[in-house]
Amino acid sequence: MSAHPGAPGRSVEGLVAFITGAASGMGRATAEVFAAEGAHVALSDISAEAVREVADDLVHRGMSAEAWALDVADPAAIQAVVAAAAQRFGGLDIVVNNAGISAFSPIDSDSYEHVWTRAFDILITAQQRIIRSALPHLRKSASARIVNIASTEALGATSRDSPYAAAKAAVTGLTRALAVELGPEGVTVNCVCPGPILTGMTEGLPEADRETFARRRTALRRYGRPEEVAQMTLSLCLPAASYITGATIPVDGGLMARNA
Ligand code: NAI
Repeated sequence: MSAHPGAPGRSVEGLVAFITGAASGMGRATAEVFAAEGAHVALSDISAEAVREVADDLVHRGMSAEAWALDVADPAAIQAVVAAAAQRFGGLDIVVNNAGISAFSPIDSDSYEHVWTRAFDILITAQQRIIRSALPHLRKSASARIVNIASTEALGATSRDSPYAAAKAAVTGLTRALAVELGPEGVTVNCVCPGPILTGMTEGLPEADRETFARRRTALRRYGRPEEVAQMTLSLCLPAASYITGATIPVDGGLMARNA
């Protein structure tokens, strides 16, 4: 029994979490962690077959999950899928805006405009669209939580990464502004900034390069695992996390803290 009867709980059991980009990496790990804690997970990804496999696997192991194909660059599809997920599970309590792509381009590249537009469509515009679609449902929840995934590239930057860094910095601004706007209604909005995490996005890098980077840059001297980010997302979504909003939280093995 809780030492403080009536205090908000430390469990997402029975809550409904809508997660984008759930077929791989941190989105998949988030689906696993939330489902294992008893949440109903509404999973979406542009990779329709892969996200169905994730949901099937969770259901097979006795958890509550369903998958939808969703390209977050398609506004009509966002509305339809968010509505379907809310109908399937009887509402929405949590949104995790996780879907993403890498978007490197030198500033004078011929493809810069194209990379910039893709980066903004997928990494930031999609987040506000998903939040706007989900908001009527979140407003009915007693524990409404939004977590937007940004990056340490929102806080520092890598050369030739300006479309990605600019879009991720915009995620932190969206988070703060919506935290202020939705705070009076009790909806919390926070942002997680992962550092170097071993996922589909980074597995193409040569292992030696990854190791060197992690040793040189992070305090913990290693790459992170997707579930280490998912645990922070879960923490921000607990009913007990009721006074944390507008925060930008690095989960980066100490990358941003380290000078040398
Ligand atoms: P990942 O590549 O393993 O997973 C990304 C998922 O997003 C994939 O399943 C992919 O199919 C999906 N996706 C891509 N475009 C989509 C679209 N248009 N609509 C719907 N789904 C789409 O990558 P990871 O690393 O798990 O990425 C998750 C988030 O974390 C992204 O927002 C990424 O920018 C961010 N991030 C990743 C870091 C890393 O080191 N891996 C570091 C900092 C941030």
